[in-house]
Amino acid sequence: MQPTRRLFLHVSLAVCTLLPLYSVAAENNSWSFGIIADTQWKDMEAPFYGTSIHVIDAINAEMIRHKVDLVIQVGDLVDKPSAAGFQMRAAHNKALGKAGIRFYPVRGNHDSKGEAEVAQFKLAFPGLPGTPEGGGSSPDLPGAAGLTYSFTHKGGKFICLDTFPIIAREGKNGKAYTVSDYLPWIEAELKKNDHRFAFVFAHKNLLGQSHKDNLFSSDKENQDSNPEMQNSFFACLQRYGVKYFFSGHDHIYNRSKIKSPDGKSEITQLICGSAAHKFYSPKEPFLERETPIFQEVKHVGFIIARVKDNQVNFEYYSTKPFGEEPKKPKWKLTDSFSFTTN
Ligand SMILES: [Fe+2]
Repeated sequence: MQPTRRLFLHVSLAVCTLLPLYSVAAENNSWSFGIIADTQWKDMEAPFYGTSIHVIDAINAEMIRHKVDLVIQVGDLVDKPSAAGFQMRAAHNKALGKAGIRFYPVRGNHDSKGEAEVAQFKLAFPGLPGTPEGGGSSPDLPGAAGLTYSFTHKGGKFICLDTFPIIAREGKNGKAYTVSDYLPWIEAELKKNDHRFAFVFAHKNLLGQSHKDNLFSSDKENQDSNPEMQNSFFACLQRYGVKYFFSGHDHIYNRSKIKSPDGKSEITQLICGSAAHKFYSPKEPFLERETPIFQEVKHVGFIIARVKDNQVNFEYYSTKPFGEEPKKPKWKLTDSFSFTTN
């Protein structure tokens, strides 16, 4: 064989061998996940049972069309916690399940009351991370498994915080864990060498637009309550390069940069909009440590995050309110932004 021809054959063979490997690698490097906000619904009777079944179905159809790997809900799955409500919310994820898309809920204030409601939630959403069959991790705190949890997916780490009543307290609603209770576990999770980037999710906001209670306190007057807890949380996220925090509760889509009370750390907060009938309006006071970037009120929406190599692109799609009847709405790309992971 002539040397030139031999070289050509070697190169061709090498290309043929390498091509499939490259395409698999490229596929693995390009993936997406979705975020859905509050799905509480006013009607407690069948077929709703307090959850926005028609909005959920329409958003899930989009999640499937966008081929996301997983969907996270930032709380308030139902209007009032009940077995029927949680079961109905879970039942409307059947289409996701069929498409191989896993659903990760974190509870909101409307999903919580006491121990009985925790059990109803766990029954409707079994096998979440931190439980024996769920993989991932939960803080080593009684009852927290599968409620506050973290998991990794293709280089991303997802940390979901439940700050609502989990364990029984005599004569009162259950006891909730605080961000301070969770902080050693959050830090340990972020310290692990098992991810390239991480996001944190919870129902309540760092600073709300309408709601002035927040992740750190139910105090509606002072958004700087528990400053040490706030500073430690912000500092921890900043130390480990967490750039985005996602929340619900406000039924407003809002993107802003927020500094810790001591001004030393900063994170971008996404309040993820509404997947329900309910809408709030922003109201004073707004703190100076928040820098607004983009806001949309009184729309139903959802977020798609596309990950490709070191780039994460976020897209927020929205439409006018609906939900009384089944509908296939026209969704508009309303906000988009991106960041590069380290
Ligand atoms: Fe809420």
